[in-house]
This record gives sequence, structure tokens and C-alpha cells, in this order.
Amino acid sequence: MARVAVVGVGAIGGVLASLLETTGLHEITLCTRRAIEALVVKTPDGVVTVRAKNLTMPDQADAVDWVLVATKTYDAPGAGMWLRGLAKSGAAVAVVQNGVEHRERFAPYVTAERIVPVVIDCPVEREQNGTVVQRGKVTMKVEEGPLGGEFEELFRGSKVEIELVPDFKTAAWRKLCTNAAGAINALTMKPARVFHEEPVAQLALAMVAEVVAVGRAEGARLDESVGKQVVDMFRGQPKDSVNSLLADRIAGRRMETDARNGVIVRLGEKHGIATPLNRMAVAVLEAGNSQ
Ligand SMILES: NC(=O)c1ccc[n+]([C@@H]2O[C@H](COP(=O)([O-])OP(=O)(O)OC[C@H]3O[C@@H](n4cnc5c(N)ncnc54)[C@H](OP(=O)(O)O)[C@@H]3O)[C@@H](O)[C@H]2O)c1
Repeated sequence: MARVAVVGVGAIGGVLASLLETTGLHEITLCTRRAIEALVVKTPDGVVTVRAKNLTMPDQADAVDWVLVATKTYDAPGAGMWLRGLAKSGAAVAVVQNGVEHRERFAPYVTAERIVPVVIDCPVEREQNGTVVQRGKVTMKVEEGPLGGEFEELFRGSKVEIELVPDFKTAAWRKLCTNAAGAINALTMKPARVFHEEPVAQLALAMVAEVVAVGRAEGARLDESVGKQVVDMFRGQPKDSVNSLLADRIAGRRMETDARNGVIVRLGEKHGIATPLNRMAVAVLEAGNSQ
């Protein structure tokens, strides 16, 4: 049994909480901005109702053994406020977010050795009434190491595929290649079918080539075939598939532009690598964000 707090109970936080619930082992605390009456998660294997304590103020938080952070990347400062109480006895903190800067985002709140970076794949959204709807399987890539092993253990007995990866940097950059090209959906306001248009596929290849160049400079092992793999992946999706960036743009919500494309521009500048296509994506999407 472990005391586990989930900070940020939206789509991904809901899925993580439901997986913990199905182990039947843990004492779960849901840390949210608004009170939750009941967390209901519709999974492909049935409906899970999460039995948990709910806190809405960081100063109510007591020490736990594990914190799973699942806010959007731009909400890291708010999530960090929870860590003062939750991690005061040295809890491990799994950062389950997109991007390649998991440790950097939480460096002001917790030491790097206590952070476990995680990338997750799961088609899921939270409905207006708070119900979380999970539409497919959950897979997570976690940095290999003692804490990675403990993280995997937390979910033993639940329906999740967890891969402990020795080279997490490469895994995160590989996912960033897909997420960066996904900006095209938000730019065109079109779902996956837009990648069947040849000029769009060529644009995606060029955007991913920028990510590969910057990622390699950062130490990720990415080969030239990644761009084609990304285009093939989008082309293999149902044509009406909507990624989270497009969903956020359609709904008028803030987008994770910086974590998906801005980071490529910022790190490109550090290494003297030009990233004009990702820069364009950031400029256009940020202009939309500021409306
Ligand atoms: N959804 C997916 O299919 C998917 C797939 C793979 C990866 N991801 C990544 O997973 C991460 C989470 O995404 P998501 O889709 O789960 O986002 P989401 O549905 O927007 O959930 C984020 C949650 O964090 C909460 N939050 C924000 N600041 C908080 C604070 N200070 N204290 C407590 N809660 C706070 C939000 O609360 P409010 O309800 O009050 O706004 C919201 O419920 C992102 O990095 C995303 O890119 C998502």
C-alpha cells in the first residue's frame, strides 16, 4: 500500500487515478482546484469509480509516498504549490506530461533525483460533467532506475503497459516529434485526414527534421526515418482523429504550444540551429492563445 496523490485530475489524472483504484491497494488523494463529488472513469473495460480523498487547497496537503502530476505543462507553477506539503517527507514525484522538460519544469519545487519523468499515450478526454472517457489502451514510458521500478510497482495488477526505458531522453524526444507535427492540425483546424495531403506531409517532414536536429544536439538518438514514421502514424489514424492541441484550440482553451513547439525554438537557439517552421507554428498558435 502506498499513499498516492494525483495533482491535476483532468483526462490523464483521471486515468491514472482509475488505474490506481483498480489495484485495490492504495490510499488515493485527488488534488484539484474545484471539489470533485465523485470521479467516474469510463474505460474500455468498464466504469471505475475512484474512492479517494479530495483536497482543493495546497495548504491542506499532508505528506504522501508518491505524487503523480498530471496538469497541463503550463500549469506547473500551480502544481508545484502542492508539492510543498505532499512531498515534505521526500515523496517521489512522477511528472506525467508531454514535452521533454519534465525535470526542468519542477526543479523549483523538488530535487531532480526525486522526479520520475513519464510520457503517456492514451486517447482520453474529460467531459463537461467531469466524467473521464478513456477510448483506448494506456501505455507509459518511464525512466529506468529505482524510482521507475517503484512507479511500475504502484500500478501492478492494473490495465496499463509500462515500459522502463534506459534512454528516456530519446523516448521523450521521439514523442515530441509527433507532438510537434501535430501543430499542423491546430494550424489548419483539421483532424488527422489533413496529413493525406502531400504538401502537408512534406511540411510535417520538414518540421520533424527541425526536431530531430535539435533533439540530437540535446543528446537524443533520433534517426532520419522519424519524419516518415510520424507522417505514416497520422495517415494510419482514423481520418477524423483530433489531437489534444486541436481539441484545445477548438474549445478556446490554452494550448501547450511552448512544450510542443516552443521548446524546439528555444533549444534550437541554444545550439545555433534554425527552426523556422516550429517558430511559425508557435507565433500563429500563440496569437490564437492570446485572443
Ligand atoms: N488527454 C490526452 O489524451 C493526453 C494524452 C497524452 C498526453 N497528455 C498530456 O498529459 C498532460 C495532462 O493533459 P490532460 O489532457 O489530462 O489535461 P486536462 O484534461 O486539462 O487536465 C489537467 C487538469 O489539471 C488541473 N489543474 C491545473 N492546475 C492545477 C492546480 N494548480 N491544482 C490542481 N489541479 C490543477 C486542471 O484543473 P481544472 O479542471 O480546474 O482546469 C485539469 O483538471 C498534458 O501534458 C498533456 O499533453 C494528454
